[in-house]
Amino acid sequence: MSDHLQNRRILLIVGGGIAAYKCLELIRRLRERGASVRVVLTAAGAEFVTKLSLGTLSGDKVYTDLFDLTDTAAIGHIELSRDADLLVVAPATADLMAKMAAGLAGDLVTTLLLATDKKVLIAPAMNVRMWTHRATQRNLEQLMADGIHIVGPNEGEMACNEFGYGRMAEPAEILAAIEAHFSELEFEGEQPLKGVHALITSGPTHEPIDPVRYLANRSSGKQGHAIATALARMGADVTLVSGPTNLPDPAGVTLKRVETAREMLVACEAALPADVAICAAAVADWRVDVDATQKIKKEPGASAPSLTLVENPDILATLSKLKTKRPTLVIGFAAETEKVIEHAVAKRLRKGCDWIVANDVSPETGVMGGELNTVHLITAEGQEDWPLLPKQAVAERLARRILAYFDSKKAKA
Ligand code: CTP
Repeated sequence: MSDHLQNRRILLIVGGGIAAYKCLELIRRLRERGASVRVVLTAAGAEFVTKLSLGTLSGDKVYTDLFDLTDTAAIGHIELSRDADLLVVAPATADLMAKMAAGLAGDLVTTLLLATDKKVLIAPAMNVRMWTHRATQRNLEQLMADGIHIVGPNEGEMACNEFGYGRMAEPAEILAAIEAHFSELEFEGEQPLKGVHALITSGPTHEPIDPVRYLANRSSGKQGHAIATALARMGADVTLVSGPTNLPDPAGVTLKRVETAREMLVACEAALPADVAICAAAVADWRVDVDATQKIKKEPGASAPSLTLVENPDILATLSKLKTKRPTLVIGFAAETEKVIEHAVAKRLRKGCDWIVANDVSPETGVMGGELNTVHLITAEGQEDWPLLPKQAVAERLARRILAYFDSKKAKA
């Protein structure tokens, strides 16, 4: 199976900001995945991370602004930027973004960015007030209009003790964005899954207790949404049935929003026929037997109310066991906290699906709500162990596996 990062050449421009330390992890991960990384360090970046550590991890010379003045014979600016497959700026400071938006070329980094004919991805990092400042937002709009790609920033606690948007995206997120770029290139203009209707469930379900309370779980919907994006990018006609999430709507996908398991099942049945169904949602197994029409009040002295739970419909099992309109390929997920393979193998048989993607969701893995996932693909033929990957890479690998399945079916027909 191809890995989009294998033999890719990344030119990583490290700007000045406390988030520069995250680049060390990014370099390590890129190299683990077979990419080569050449680093350019700005003078401000050198205040936060050393040339020595960047050079040690990248296994290459680190270029700095000083090189601009003394070492031009070694490799020209144009060559340095054209020699790469992708330029990544992380952290991209407010100052660097402003210079890029204005097209300045007063030093090595800005010259490289202006001279390149390759795609540029930036990971902004700055104080929340700098990020929300009209000038930065104006520059951001300009950069997007110029075709620059952006990852992050995230919301959170900052080094300056403030809270808000401005934290640089995590290395796993930057890695996923880099990977997405190369996978887009691979399928540019091609639609290998054209004509295939994919139905995907994603996110948690919310099961009401009364008008203000509900039962839910920790699913973020990231894995299901990433699968929808990956399949749509390969040309599939995608229906995504999603429980409540905070994620942006994936591009090129028909999105049906639902709250409860029962609504999810109705939406899935309405979306049939489908060629492939992928149940990635963390559907609540139970709901409250009768949800109160008014808020349950806390009466003084009264004991706590008890909730009676009844089982929800199993969407994966229902789709797998359909007599008519059963999707050709039905794929489930098995979220397990122990005996992952054993439980997943049994779950595949019990639910009647064709493949099951098993993952360890015990709290120490950080899978629930996190960026990374280690999965095992279980089919009738056996088990495949996939490496630790960003959820987006898991999605792309699965999409490729689905493509191979339909290709081999076509070849046999
Ligand atoms: N699933 C579903 N409908 C349900 C419960 C689960 O469609 N009511 C699907 C999930 O989307 C996933 C698979 O079934 O693809 C397995 O979900 P999981 O939570 O791992 O298994 P459960 O059936 O809930 O079994 P258990 O909680 O005993 O592990």
